[in-house]
Amino acid sequence: MGLQKAVVAKLGDYEIRQCDREDIPSVIEVNMKTLPEHYSDGFYYEILSEFPETFLVADLHGVLVGYIMCRIEYGFSQLKRLGLARKGHVVSVAVEEEHRGKGIGTGLVLASREEMVKRSATECYLEVRVSNAQAIALYQKLGFKVTGQLEAYYRDGEGAMVMTVQIGK
Ligand code: ACO
Ligand code: ZN
Repeated sequence: MGLQKAVVAKLGDYEIRQCDREDIPSVIEVNMKTLPEHYSDGFYYEILSEFPETFLVADLHGVLVGYIMCRIEYGFSQLKRLGLARKGHVVSVAVEEEHRGKGIGTGLVLASREEMVKRSATECYLEVRVSNAQAIALYQKLGFKVTGQLEAYYRDGEGAMVMTVQIGK
């Protein structure tokens, strides 16, 4: 038995808490069910070991129903011309279909954003399929703006929008 991971938020009966290594098989299961973008098992473990604070899961009585995994990167700002910035990159976020529309997706993004700020990130960005109206609406609600377009970003040829929001002060 590992140590209980820190709970960072509560949404009714759902807990948003840090992901544990033991949660990864369930995270992969949620990813397989909800998204066409999959990753190797090793990729999840790597992100967890490098960026544990921003790898969060939504847990309902011990059952994992959603996750968000992120990276902190340093590179060209998506908001300032010619500037460099520390950026939180939302690599993947998903909630199981039967648990959607309850604020879990919003809670996961907001909680990971707070952790990004603690790690000195000043912007948060992600890529999203141009057809993913639900996710785009959620990001817009949270202040993300379209800052770029990537043609044929996904394997099936669909394009992505890059969306970015300033975080912290
Ligand atoms: N089912 C789905 N969406 C609903 C429902 C419902 N029953 N009811 C309302 N919504 C709408 C609302 O507009 C809601 O926003 P509002 O309540 O503020 O008006 C919004 O959808 C969803 O908000 P949340 O409840 O906070 O988010 P949810 O827990 O439903 O998760 C998510 C959103 C993660 C996008 C989810 O739809 C999902 O997992 N989709 C499939 C995977 C995916 O597309 N992930 C994002 C890919 S891009 C990336 O990963 C960077
Ligand atoms: Zn990405």
